[in-house]
Amino acid sequence: MNVKQKQIYDKTSKVFILTDENVAPFWLPEIEYWLNCKNAVEIVIKAGEQHKNLQTVQRIWRTLMKQHADRNALLINLGGGVVTDLGGFAASTYKRGIKFINIPTTLLAMVDAAIGGKTGIDFGGGKNQIGTFAEAEEVIIDPVFLETLPQREICSGLAEMLKYGFIADSNLLNVNLENYQQYITHCGEIKHEIVMQDLAEKGLRKVLNFGHTLGHAIESHCLTTDYPLLHGEAVALGMLGALWLSVRQCGLDEKVLQDFESQLPMLLSEVEISLSESDIEPILGYLVHDKKNKDEKPQFVLLEAVGKPVWDVEIEPNLVKSSLQYLIKVSNR
Ligand SMILES: NC(=O)c1ccc[n+]([C@@H]2O[C@H](COP(=O)([O-])OP(=O)(O)OC[C@H]3O[C@@H](n4cnc5c(N)ncnc54)[C@H](O)[C@@H]3O)[C@@H](O)[C@H]2O)c1
Repeated sequence: MNVKQKQIYDKTSKVFILTDENVAPFWLPEIEYWLNCKNAVEIVIKAGEQHKNLQTVQRIWRTLMKQHADRNALLINLGGGVVTDLGGFAASTYKRGIKFINIPTTLLAMVDAAIGGKTGIDFGGGKNQIGTFAEAEEVIIDPVFLETLPQREICSGLAEMLKYGFIADSNLLNVNLENYQQYITHCGEIKHEIVMQDLAEKGLRKVLNFGHTLGHAIESHCLTTDYPLLHGEAVALGMLGALWLSVRQCGLDEKVLQDFESQLPMLLSEVEISLSESDIEPILGYLVHDKKNKDEKPQFVLLEAVGKPVWDVEIEPNLVKSSLQYLIKVSNR
């Protein structure tokens, strides 16, 4: 335990550890041993995006209440982005906010979800519709957790790492399955730096949503089908669409799009994409409900060049539709 962690624990009345059913058998005893908190109250929830909802939050709140958690209680969120989003939300709303620490155990959460203070749950059929801005006391990142993470989840995390390549540092466009571990810290630093300049997402922070406008709509739609996609897989498709739009609307060099097309099989190597023309209308329906819309019009982050993102770009509905047709065609190759 380092000095900062000791200070956090010294001021803590009771420790709770939130994790999910997949992570618990591998890592819960280890964490209790490492952090020397064997008396912690364990809260183990079902795994998966479909459980990032109000029912699960209510279960967490109820356990906190039953165990007499006061405002000096600490919640440790041990898991992927679902656990850190949910746990952060439950902690930031319980008794108007208790402390929480994030210990991300997926690649995606290490480079993105666990950092930056956005918490939330899915609601009313849309992703992250209810949430808060609340910063974790600490984010503990250790690649050791990736030893037990399925390969499909690693690929999902790689997509978010490539996102930083497009919006901030072209060196990250070389990230692949062999070398990704050496770039984890750098991705976290990029996110932290952007968030520090714009915590409430009034401007610059929006660049982190590159690929997410289409990505979230695709992810939300696929959750209602027999072929749900992981967050990073949907973001990979969303980035493909955003690059295609960038070539047309912002003068992005077409070579950037072609290079990404050739990386796509790596990102989607563990999943069969079954999107077809008939999925376009429902995906467009989700776009209308994107919480970042202005006057019900989707706002895109596009690129003028690698490392030069622009945000709040409105796109004609027909062009959005064409971008979906293009990405569906490429993803079925
Ligand atoms: N708050 C933010 O800024 C932000 C940013 C990006 C994504 N997100 C959110 O993050 C979520 C996606 O996160 P995710 O991809 O980590 O998904 P996840 O939390 O569902 O984890 C993926 C799967 O891996 C399992 N798992 C986790 N760690 C493991 C380990 N070490 N070993 C074995 N299995 C393990 C989980 O049980 C789950 O089945 C989405 O809900 C998304 O909206 C939030």
